[in-house]
Amino acid sequence: MKDTIILAFESSCDETSVAVIKNGKEILSNIIATQIKSHQRFGGVVPEVASRHHVEQVTACIQLALDEAKVSYDDLDAVAVTYGPGLVGSLLIGIMAAKSVAFAHNLPLIKVNHLSGHIYAANLVAELEYPFMALIVSGGHTEIVMVNNPGEFERLGDTRDDAVGEAFDKVGRVIGLPYPAGKQIDEMAQLGNDTFDFPRAMLKEDNLDFSFSGLKSAFINTMHHADQIGEELDKNDLATSFQECVVDILTEKTFRALENHKVKQLVVAGGVAANSGLKKRFEEEIIKRKLDLELIVPPLRLCGDNAAMIGAAAQIEYDQGNFAGLDLNADPSLDFE
Ligand code: KG4
Ligand code: ZN
Repeated sequence: MKDTIILAFESSCDETSVAVIKNGKEILSNIIATQIKSHQRFGGVVPEVASRHHVEQVTACIQLALDEAKVSYDDLDAVAVTYGPGLVGSLLIGIMAAKSVAFAHNLPLIKVNHLSGHIYAANLVAELEYPFMALIVSGGHTEIVMVNNPGEFERLGDTRDDAVGEAFDKVGRVIGLPYPAGKQIDEMAQLGNDTFDFPRAMLKEDNLDFSFSGLKSAFINTMHHADQIGEELDKNDLATSFQECVVDILTEKTFRALENHKVKQLVVAGGVAANSGLKKRFEEEIIKRKLDLELIVPPLRLCGDNAAMIGAAAQIEYDQGNFAGLDLNADPSLDFE
C-alpha cells in the first residue's frame, strides 16, 4: 500500500508546531517552537502575544519540518490542522498557514480536534485496539473518554470547573513558581511528604466527573492562613499533598470507569500525563486490581502540545475520506459531540 505523508499544524495555545507524519504512525519530523518564556512574566498565556508569536514562527517551522523529514511539498498527501478547542487568534494562524499550503499545492485539507490529537499521540507509540479508554488531562481539559471506533468518541466524565493542569498552574503561582507549574510541582512532590489533608471532591458521588476548584481554594486558604499567623509552610510538602490529592481523584474516577467498560488499553493523554506520580499510581493500581490492561502514556515530548499528534489523528480522517473545505474556520470551544 502507498504511504501517506501528512504535514500537520498545531497552534491552539502557546506552542507553534509543524510535523511530517507517515501513515499516522511514524514521526518524520516534529518541530515545536514554544513561547513559554514570553508568557511567563504575565503568569499565564496572553492570547494577543500568542497570536503574534505564531505568525512569526509558523513559516520557519514549516521549512524546518520539511527539511528534517527530507520531504518536499510534492511528497505530501494532505495538510492537517487543529481547528479547536483553543485560543481563536492562535488557532487562526495555524489554519491560515495550513490552508495556504493546501491551496498552493493542491492538497486535501484535514481538520483535527485538538483533544483527538492528544489521544492519538498514543498511536505514535503503540498499536491501538478498539474500544479503548482515554483520560485526557491537560491545561484545558480533564475528561474520561471511550474511543469505540477510529475517531468515534464517547465522553464518560468531565470537569465541572477547573481543568487539572489549570489547578497545577494556579497553585504553582501561589507558591511562587513560574508558569506553567505542573512539571516543577511534580519534581517538588518527589521531595516532600503528604502532610496536608486537602479535600477530595466528588469521590462519593456516583458519577465520573471531576472538580478541582475546591482543592485549589483549600490550597490557597492554607497558604493565606499560614501567612497571617506568620508560619512558614514546607513547599515540598504542599506540592506532595496537592499532587497526592489530584492523583487520588484521577485514579478513583478512571478505575471506576474501567469497572463498567471492558477495554484492553488505557491511554493517558495531555500535558499532565507527563506527571510521574500519576503514571506510577496507575501502574500500581493495574497490578493491585489484577487488570489485563495496557497503560499507554506517550513520552513527554508527545504529551504536551505538538503537531505530530495532530498528524496521527489526521490519518484517521484521511482514511475515512473526511476532508475540510478552504472555508474552514476556528472553533475555540469545540467539543467531542
Ligand atoms: O496539553 P498541554 O501541553 O496544553 C493544553 O492543551 O492545555 O498541557 C499543559 C498543562 C499545563 O497546565 C502544565 O502545568 C501541565 O500540563 N503539566 C504537568 C506536568 N507537565 C506539564 N502537570 C503535572 N505534572 C507534570 N509533570
Ligand atoms: Zn493540549
